[in-house]
Amino acid sequence: MPEQPGPPESGYPQRSSQWYGGTDRNSYIHRAWMRRGLPAHAFDGRPHIAIANTASDLTPCNAHFNEVAESVKQGVYEAGGIPLNLPVVSLGETLVRPTAMLWRNMAAMAAEEMFRANPIDGLVLLGGCDKTIPALLMAAGSVDLPAVVVPGGPMLTGTFRGVALGCGTDVWRLSEEVRAGTLSQEQFIRSESSMIRSRGHCNTMGTASTMGLVAEALGMVLPGLAGTPAADSRLLESAHASGRLAVEMVAEGRTPSAVLSRGSFLNAIVALAAIGGSTNAVVHLLAIAGRVGIELSQDDFDRTGSEIPLLVDLQPAGRFLMEDFFRAGGLHAVLREVRDLLDPTALTVTGKPLVDYLDTADIWDREVIRTRAEPLLPHAGIAVLYGNLAPDGAVVKPAAASEHLLQHRGRAVVFDSVEDMHARIDDPDLDVDADSVLVLRGCGPKGYPGMPEVANMPLPQKLLQAGVRDMVRICDGRMSGTAYGTVVLHVSPEAAAGGPLALVRTGDHIVLDIAGRRLDLDVPPEELLLRQPDPATVAAYAAPQRGWEKLYVQTVGQANTGADLDFLVGSSGAEVSRESH
Ligand code: FES
Repeated sequence: MPEQPGPPESGYPQRSSQWYGGTDRNSYIHRAWMRRGLPAHAFDGRPHIAIANTASDLTPCNAHFNEVAESVKQGVYEAGGIPLNLPVVSLGETLVRPTAMLWRNMAAMAAEEMFRANPIDGLVLLGGCDKTIPALLMAAGSVDLPAVVVPGGPMLTGTFRGVALGCGTDVWRLSEEVRAGTLSQEQFIRSESSMIRSRGHCNTMGTASTMGLVAEALGMVLPGLAGTPAADSRLLESAHASGRLAVEMVAEGRTPSAVLSRGSFLNAIVALAAIGGSTNAVVHLLAIAGRVGIELSQDDFDRTGSEIPLLVDLQPAGRFLMEDFFRAGGLHAVLREVRDLLDPTALTVTGKPLVDYLDTADIWDREVIRTRAEPLLPHAGIAVLYGNLAPDGAVVKPAAASEHLLQHRGRAVVFDSVEDMHARIDDPDLDVDADSVLVLRGCGPKGYPGMPEVANMPLPQKLLQAGVRDMVRICDGRMSGTAYGTVVLHVSPEAAAGGPLALVRTGDHIVLDIAGRRLDLDVPPEELLLRQPDPATVAAYAAPQRGWEKLYVQTVGQANTGADLDFLVGSSGAEVSRESH
């Protein structure tokens, strides 16, 4: 047998040597069971890289990840490491009930524990569908092993009757058209087979696209990779390079705590605003920051992001899709336009600053990616509202809201649960008009539980038929990144955690002032003090008796801090508490 090259030089202690080094019975057992194809030199101190793989047939957006993992493996081998496929909890946004967000923290907890429990020196994180990248980054942050994310990429653009279909966004639009009577049910169903053209996640600037790009802006992705369509061969090339990089990162001890800084998170917020990304990124970035001990608040999104121009004309705020975005120059072309707003010291997984990668970036299609001089909107980003209806804040995305509703006073029409809303929203006798404010509560982290994406409630059918296309909607839940409208979401504290949203009554007046950052219930304070939540409101809150849901409801934090479980915030590092015996 030819002599094998030795392991890469490393000044960083190899965790895996704690399992495989030595001649005692335990190291014998660890090596022996891993020798199914692994040669002796696999245990000579070379880094063992786990490929945290969220491939699953039930997560269609990530179903191609085994092929991606093969490319990562080749890169790891080539750099002198040992790649190991590690299937981790996978969350498919469209299938998992009641909402994938209920399981984000569970996926993060399970991944963290398996990263720590196994003989692993570094990580390649394969994520795509909405919650998978956030969960993996939370886990990697808490275990603090060298880690690089490979975003699985968006799907190619599907068309229906010659028109591009935005996955997700156009489902909302088409279903509203059916309800308004302007599209037949048959045509609606026929569009279904055109929506998902290829492997990959949703192709709008929804949560999956946003989190892939934001992960790169954070510095946790091989620069230039995020946004590569899932079906593009360059994804496999970059996956290969990420495998090589993971080995290098282990050798240099480049852990998440060495890469990430407050500046990284502020860069991510700048990117989030400039791309017009999903509001879900607020909750996820807060949770990731909590894992690595970096101070970040909801207000940072408003302070840093709200004056940033919107430079990307992508659905749901605009016209194009992710394939167009990648063709037009991708994330680096956008970031180059706002380079002066980025922290030049914030690093990436390569060890170099993010800004170092922007020199050669160009915009190839100025319809899709705008210059700073000609933005789609002068101000994008997230606005955080406060008031007697949201003492700990609420989030709104002005770019997705209607101009005429940015300042609004209207009569509340209150729903106590999603079921209540569905039962009554289309009732012809519902006392509602275009100026009404729809309020949906019981949808926060504790109340539902899991904070579902229901804040963009459907409009009452009778108003849709009358031509109304947007109304002010207020909710303690989240909104799909592919949705749009004047929607105030993440109201904190939620109704089920004692928030004043529980006290609103149908007929009360609500005042929204996005420019003034206010959300108020126009009820005298002395009257509000005397109010108690209606028994029907309280009865609609979740009250799980066992299992994960019970643990979740008892320990989950509010949206304004990232909705992580209280005992998962922070890091435990990579040390195991006890050796195996
Ligand atoms: Fe997976 Fe949209 S359903 S990203």
